[in-house]
This record gives sequence, C-alpha cells and structure tokens, in this order.
Amino acid sequence: MKKLKISVIPGDGIGREVVPETLRVLDRLAEVHGGVTFQYETHPWSCEYYLENGVMMPSDGMARLHQTDAIYLGAVGNPKLVPDHISLWGLLIKIRRECEQVINIRPAQYIEGVKSPLAEPNQFDFIVVRENSEGEYSEVGGRIHSGEDEIAIQNAVFTRKATERTIRYGFELAQKRKGRVTSATKSNGIVHSMPFWDDVFQEVSNSYPAIETESNHIDALAAFFVSKPQHFDVVVASNLFGDILTDLGATIMGSIGIAPAANINLNGKYPSMFEPVHGSAPDIIGQGIANPFGQLWTAKMMLDHLGFEELGSLLIKAIKETIGDGIKTKDLGGDSSTKEVIEHVMTKLL
Ligand code: NAD
Ligand code: IPM
Ligand code: MN
Repeated sequence: MKKLKISVIPGDGIGREVVPETLRVLDRLAEVHGGVTFQYETHPWSCEYYLENGVMMPSDGMARLHQTDAIYLGAVGNPKLVPDHISLWGLLIKIRRECEQVINIRPAQYIEGVKSPLAEPNQFDFIVVRENSEGEYSEVGGRIHSGEDEIAIQNAVFTRKATERTIRYGFELAQKRKGRVTSATKSNGIVHSMPFWDDVFQEVSNSYPAIETESNHIDALAAFFVSKPQHFDVVVASNLFGDILTDLGATIMGSIGIAPAANINLNGKYPSMFEPVHGSAPDIIGQGIANPFGQLWTAKMMLDHLGFEELGSLLIKAIKETIGDGIKTKDLGGDSSTKEVIEHVMTKLL
C-alpha cells in the first residue's frame, strides 16, 4: 500500500467549495480500488489568511510543500479583499516559481454530452503546453513617475533554456499523440521575444523529423481554436499566450469550469501542482453551483502524474458517465448542485 502525502490548498472562493468535495472522491477511489492512501496536509493560505497574517503563506510554508508528493490547489484570488498582484504573486506564482514548475499542461477536448458554444465542435482533442516560469510574466519592470507622466514598463524575459524545454516537451508529447505541434507566435509584431521563440522552435523541430509542425500568430490561432479546433494536437505557447489560449480552450469545451491543468516540475526536486484552469469565481461564491469537473479532472492528472493511471482512468470514466447521465451544474446547462454532481460521480466508483 503506497501512502501519498498531498498538500491541499483550497485557496479562495469556489476553490473552497470544489476542493473538499473532490477529496471525497479521491478517498472513495482509494478505498474501493486500493493500492494507495492519501494523507492530506491542508493549508488555509488565502486572501483571508493574508488579512490576518499580512502574508499569503507562512515563512516555512514552502518547505512544508516540498516535503509532500504533490500540491492540490483550488484557486487563489479575491480582489474585493486583496489586490490580485498581492494574492497571486504571493501564493500561486510563488509556488510555481519556487517549486520550479516550469511547464503547464492544459488539455481541452470535446466531451459527449457537454454543449460546446461552437456550432460544430467536431471531436477536438488538443493539449496546450504553456511555458510556466518566465516570458511575459517577468518581474523586470515597474512604474515610474506619477500622474499624467506615469509610465509602466514591462520587460518580457525569454531564456533559451526555458523556451527550449517547453517546446521540446511539446514535441515529446506529440510523439505519443497525433504527431503535430503548433507554435503560438507573434513575430510579425514588434516583439523581440517572438523571432527568438521561432528560431528555437525551428531548432527543436529539426530533431523530430516525423512530427508535423506549423506556426500561427497568436491572434489567428485564437480564431482557429474557434473555427477548426479539431485540427490541433499539441500547441506550444509562451506564458501569457498559453494563459489566454487555455481559457478559450476551456470555453469551447463548454465551460471554463471543466478544464484541468497541471504545473509540472521536471527535475524531480520539488512537487508538481495540480489546479484547474478556472479561478475563484467570485460571482458565484456560496451558491453551491460551482462546477467540480475541472477540479476533478485535475485530480485525474495528479493521479496519472503520481503513477496511478488506472485510478486516473476510472476517475475520468466516472466524470464522463456522470455527464452522460445529464448530471451537470448550471454553467454546463444543467441544474445539479456541486454536491449532487459529486454524489453521482461517487456512485460510479463502486
Ligand atoms: P474565473 O475563472 O474565476 O471566472 C470567470 C467566469 O467563469 C465567472 O463568471 C465564473 O463564475 C465562471 N466560472 C469559473 N469557474 C467556474 C466553475 N468551476 N463553475 C462554474 N462557473 C465557473 O476568472 P476571473 O473572474 O478572471 O478571476 C477571479 C479570481 O480568480 C481573480 O482573483 C483571479 O486572479 C483569480 N484566478 C485564479 C486562478 C488560480 O488560482 N489558478 C486562475 C484564474 C483566475
Ligand atoms: C491561470 C491564472 C493565473 C495565470 C493567474 C491567476 C495568475 O490565470 O492559472 O490561468 O495567469 O497563470
Ligand atoms: Mn488563466
């Protein structure tokens, strides 16, 4: 029996609603199918924690995360209480950086029984590999002067190392899938980083002659996600481009509430972190209608990553069967509550 230690950070808003519910599903999976038990270390780190303590996490917080096998996070951010640049930079982005979670994997696929806003969604199934450590999310810059003369300066930072490992990750993934990699670029704009990104893409592609490659400008690519999503297999993108594309990917699936994500540590020194694509959804807090599928699917990615693919497969099967039975939250056109969805998923695991 393997015991897995999981750091759990429900965070803010609906993170606190979907995380505890989905842990019940994980426990049921472990109980019914065996081979593993989960030991949770739950942290209250959130905007409320910040208001009480003046920090988003305690000084020994990172060390505690490092001692566990994975981090399972809901969502961070409650702009009414704490500005996002304090809460997110102090928790979510801090963990991504300090745990060296350099790649963000975000699948999007057509799910039978979920109504896509696309007229003809056509069975799409792609994965966005997002650079997760630098790029447009750089600390280089700041605000100078004030009033009418105020200037905000932001320098994007693209290192060869990070660009190459992201693109290479995409090619490795495509080898196990349909064999096509699309690069999100913007080398037609005055963006120095993008001709660089294109060069690295070209160099990496030379070592994968069997993989079909293409580059699309990010603006056109966003449009193609709507007009021909079934065309894509693996899409490699910089931090900001990947962020934007994956909300779009989630939306064509039917709702941002359904899309999963994994922040992957590649060097084995620190745990990876699993959090859905969506945020804390302040507009629906406390109504019991948050869609738990994104969080659940994220748990499946965590199980796969930890080597329990069989449990991961059972979980995704239970999610799809629940959708097939018409048990869905409001964002997916249903009328079930978060809890009702979870109860139904549990019945599929017996
Ligand atoms: P959001 O994803 O929280 O919400 C966007 C819209 O989608 C809202 O209408 C919301 O109700 C809906 N939605 C999101 N998840 C849903 C779910 N599971 N079920 C049903 N509906 C759902 O994005 P936002 O409004 O831009 O951000 C809100 C806060 O969350 C901000 O503080 C933001 O910075 C933060 N955020 C955090 C993360 C994270 O921690 N990973 C990700 C994105 C945004
Ligand atoms: C995401 C979120 C975060 C990001 C924010 C909340 C910092 O939008 O995980 O997609 O931009 O990475
Ligand atoms: Mn995002």
